[in-house]
Amino acid sequence: MAESTRTLDWNGANGDHWVAYEEKYNAAMIRYGERLFAGADVRPDERVLDVGCGCGQTTRVAAALAAEGSALGVDLSAAMLAQARTRAAEEDIANVRFEQADAQVHDFAPGAYDVAISRHGVMFFAAPVAAFANVRRALRPAGRLAFVCWRAPEESEYSGVPRAALAPYVTVPPSGGVNEPGPNSLADPDRVREVLGAAGFVDVHLEAENEPMNLGADVGEALDFVLNRPHVQGAMADLDGTTRAKAAECVREALTPYLTPEGVLLRAPAWLVTAHTPA
Ligand SMILES: C[S@@+](CC[C@H](N)C(=O)[O-])C[C@H]1O[C@@H](n2cnc3c(N)ncnc32)[C@H](O)[C@@H]1O
Repeated sequence: MAESTRTLDWNGANGDHWVAYEEKYNAAMIRYGERLFAGADVRPDERVLDVGCGCGQTTRVAAALAAEGSALGVDLSAAMLAQARTRAAEEDIANVRFEQADAQVHDFAPGAYDVAISRHGVMFFAAPVAAFANVRRALRPAGRLAFVCWRAPEESEYSGVPRAALAPYVTVPPSGGVNEPGPNSLADPDRVREVLGAAGFVDVHLEAENEPMNLGADVGEALDFVLNRPHVQGAMADLDGTTRAKAAECVREALTPYLTPEGVLLRAPAWLVTAHTPA
């Protein structure tokens, strides 16, 4: 399994891709952000830590909710953080900060945060127990953790539909197993409870979310989004022009039934996970 999955180069090509497609990802994941903030329940005077904040949309929302407090976004990607800082400056947000840091091992000030949040940023840890214990130490007693992560990859149309459409032409590598660092590492609810419990969290609660990913307003936009994802580009790199066009047409056909008045919506099951630090 391990040799067929992909390593994500966040402080490199993958981060650059997320910057280029920032608005698309934000639009695609908007409903997961809403669910995240429903679970996080950020209050006006709180200090929020956003783990794997990327281009910082959720950090900016957190800063708005914590209007008398503050929000810190940490991420591995220098490019995404630069974009996050630009957006925060454009929006004139004074109580937000971004730092390049590996959340697994970063020396956070102990107890400095009331709540840690993450929108799909905590599944990539090589040593998840140690990483979540590091995040736990950054939280105050009775602090809160809330994140969304992928669930049930085999039921994900978001990853499955493009892969199946391209199968006659190329093999798109799986996005990662349920027990290895990568998008699906926290898909197994027992593993989530085990990891967070071993990291020192209590009251671990998982709620199944069935929000779709919105890949674009129309099929053309969705196709552009899918074909430019780095692992898809990589898989298609060696195709000649004619074959590439045929493969792209297959993806277009596969996406077309998912077009709705709200956009091209593909099922992408997720968990909303909440937990506390001990009082
Ligand atoms: C799927 S993206 C989500 C980005 C952002 N949360 C969003 O919703 O747009 C995952 C993010 O986690 C970051 N990340 C992965 N491992 C990390 C780590 N160990 N420490 C900090 N950030 C990490 C990546 O750089 C990337 O920005």
